[in-house]
Parts: sequence; C-alpha cells; structure tokens
Amino acid sequence: MITPSHLALVPFVSVENMMRLVHHVGLETFLKELAVEIEADFKRWPIFDKAPRVPSHSDVGVIELMPTSDGELYGFKYVNGHPKNMKEGLQTVTGFGLLADVNTGYPVLFSEMTVLTALRTAATSAMATKHLARPNSRVLAMIGNGAQSEFQTIALKAVCGIDTVRLYDIDPAATEKCAANLAGLGITIVKCSSPEEAIEGADVITTATADKEMQTILTDNMVGNGVHINAIGGDCPGKTELHRDIVARASMFVEFPAQTRIEGELQQMPLDHPFTELWEVINGTAAGRKDAAEITLFDGVGFAIEDFAALRYVQEKIKGTTFFKELDMIADPDDPRDLFGMVLRAK
Ligand SMILES: NC(=O)c1ccc[n+]([C@@H]2O[C@H](COP(=O)([O-])OP(=O)(O)OC[C@H]3O[C@@H](n4cnc5c(N)ncnc54)[C@H](O)[C@@H]3O)[C@@H](O)[C@H]2O)c1
Repeated sequence: MITPSHLALVPFVSVENMMRLVHHVGLETFLKELAVEIEADFKRWPIFDKAPRVPSHSDVGVIELMPTSDGELYGFKYVNGHPKNMKEGLQTVTGFGLLADVNTGYPVLFSEMTVLTALRTAATSAMATKHLARPNSRVLAMIGNGAQSEFQTIALKAVCGIDTVRLYDIDPAATEKCAANLAGLGITIVKCSSPEEAIEGADVITTATADKEMQTILTDNMVGNGVHINAIGGDCPGKTELHRDIVARASMFVEFPAQTRIEGELQQMPLDHPFTELWEVINGTAAGRKDAAEITLFDGVGFAIEDFAALRYVQEKIKGTTFFKELDMIADPDDPRDLFGMVLRAK
C-alpha cells in the first residue's frame, strides 16, 4: 500500500464542516473576525495580484474564476450566478475555492465556498458600512430576502450595531423565511410590503436582489439624504439594481475599479464618473463620508481579495480542529520524476 506524502494531502472543508466551524466560533464572532481579516487585506491592497474575475456568460447565468495572490499564497474561487436557479429549487450562487503555496504551487486548503461566500459578502458590506455610514446608524432596510439576506443583516448587527431590520422582497415567502430565520437573534424585525415602506427611517439600505437584467430597486426620489447603501446584487454586465439618478447623486465607493466598471452600478455611468477605492478609505489615504447629509454607496460586486482573506481565515481557524478532512489530491511520487512508476506500482 502506497501512502501519499504529507504535501499530497490537502485539508478540505466540506459544507458540513464549514457549518460546524461557524457554530463552534459563533456566527457573530465569525462575521466580526472575518471583517477584521478582510480589512487587514484591504490595508495591504497594493501588494496583491489584481485582475477582473474571468467570467463565462450564458443566457441563464455566469460561471466565474476569481484569482489573486499576495506573493506567499495564491487563491482562487469558482463561483456561479444563476438567478433562475431559485425557481428550480437550486441556489443562485454556489462556490468552492483553494489556497496554494506560491513557493511550491501545492494547494494547502480546499474549501466549500457557498456558505463562505455569503459570510464574506456580509462581512465586506459590514466593513464598508462601518467606514461609510453615519455613526450610530441603527436601522437597516434589507431589500431582497434570499440566501444572502440574513448573513448581511447579522454582519451589520455584529460589526455596526444595527438593531432593527426592515425587510422587503417581491416574493413575500422570502420575507417570511428571512423573518423566521432572524427571529430570536437579537434584532427587531419589521416586514414591509413595498421598497418605499422598507426604507422609511433606514440609516443603511442593502440591496441583494437577483435578476439577470437592469432593475430599479431604488429610484432617486425614494432615497433621503444621509443614508448609506450597500448595492451588492448588481454584479454582472447588464445586471444592476439602482436607478442611474441615485447613483449620480451618491458618493460611490468601489473594490477593484476595472471589475466594478464591467459589473457594478458603475457600468451605468460615464467613464469620468467619480468614485473612491474603498481600500484607500480604510488606509486613510482617501476621504470616506464627508458629512451627515451625504449619500454613500458601496457598489459591491465581490472581489477576489475578499475570498482570499476568507480562505486564510478558515485556514487559521481549522488548525488543530476536526473541521476538515485530508484529501488525497496531489500526485506526489517519492521520486518526483517517477510519476509513471507510481501509477504502475498502484496496480
Ligand atoms: N456582491 C457580492 O459580492 C455578491 C455575493 C453574493 C451574491 N451576490 C448577488 O446578490 C444577489 C442575491 O443573491 P442571493 O444568493 O441572496 O440570491 P437569491 O436568489 O437567494 O435571492 C434573491 C432575492 O431577490 C428577490 N428579488 C428579485 N427581484 C426583486 C425586486 N425587484 N425587489 C425585491 N426583491 C427582489 C427574489 O425574490 C429573491 O428572494 C444576487 O444577484 C447575487 O449574484 C453578490
């Protein structure tokens, strides 16, 4: 019996183990710690390899690869976006990802990333909100009550002190599901029957709707001064959530401009439309919110560095635990030139 070398065995975090890890750490602690990790990587933004993700579009959705590296570790995520999946009983977004050692090229972590994407997207919105919303923001309007919505809400509670959520979805069953899931988690829940009702009195608005076209979830006249908007559902060419006028009125903050230009609300705007890169606000090299009346907009599309930070966080957290299995993933013969011999001997 041939046993693989330790480098050939790659720690694998299954969906089951990711869920166990979240409960072991505690959901709010997990989201808070993850936001800190993501923020740490935003602070060293310039050192990362950066490129817009590589998409493969079809009429019904998109499949994407999201790579980056900090020179020591390389990471990528496979992720899809299929808004029609939900009606077929499937997830809109699924994912898995990998970290590898830049020195050897050998993978060092393989993980589910459907749950982890929801967690990292929520932690990223919370991080942006912490830097951009008015201090003492307490009321969230959560528009789009699908898979991401509870994660978004709890991250904003944990990181920013949001204590009330006003829910709206075109499908009341989604709002019922979201309200039932959030019940007992220490947040006041208000179910609303229109987007206008949902944003009444809101300090922060998060839109996480899924459609394969330009939507106008928010129009200019709906949004009062001073709010912070996380628009995370517009994340593909031809898929936006906000009316152009509200985008024009807000101060826009983005992750990686070259990707946001193709995928975000920014795609609606002329090439000279002003925006600020979020990492610069976090680093103190650019201004965030200037006054209490300003509307701030985080045009979040999801960038590879956020996934990289999430994978690194998981890599640290599983050390010394049982929340992973070792996968015999890399062929690693004792004599590195004898790959063929290794196959022969396995007969
Ligand atoms: N920016 C990021 O990093 C990031 C990460 C993950 C997901 N996303 C995007 O976020 C969106 C939501 O993802 P999900 O996994 O929650 O999807 P989902 O399909 O589970 O939920 C989307 C919800 O939006 C609702 N909806 C659709 N049109 C609406 C409208 N006009 N008004 C109100 N509600 C509406 C649907 O009924 C559904 O409940 C998707 O577009 C997804 O691609 C972005």
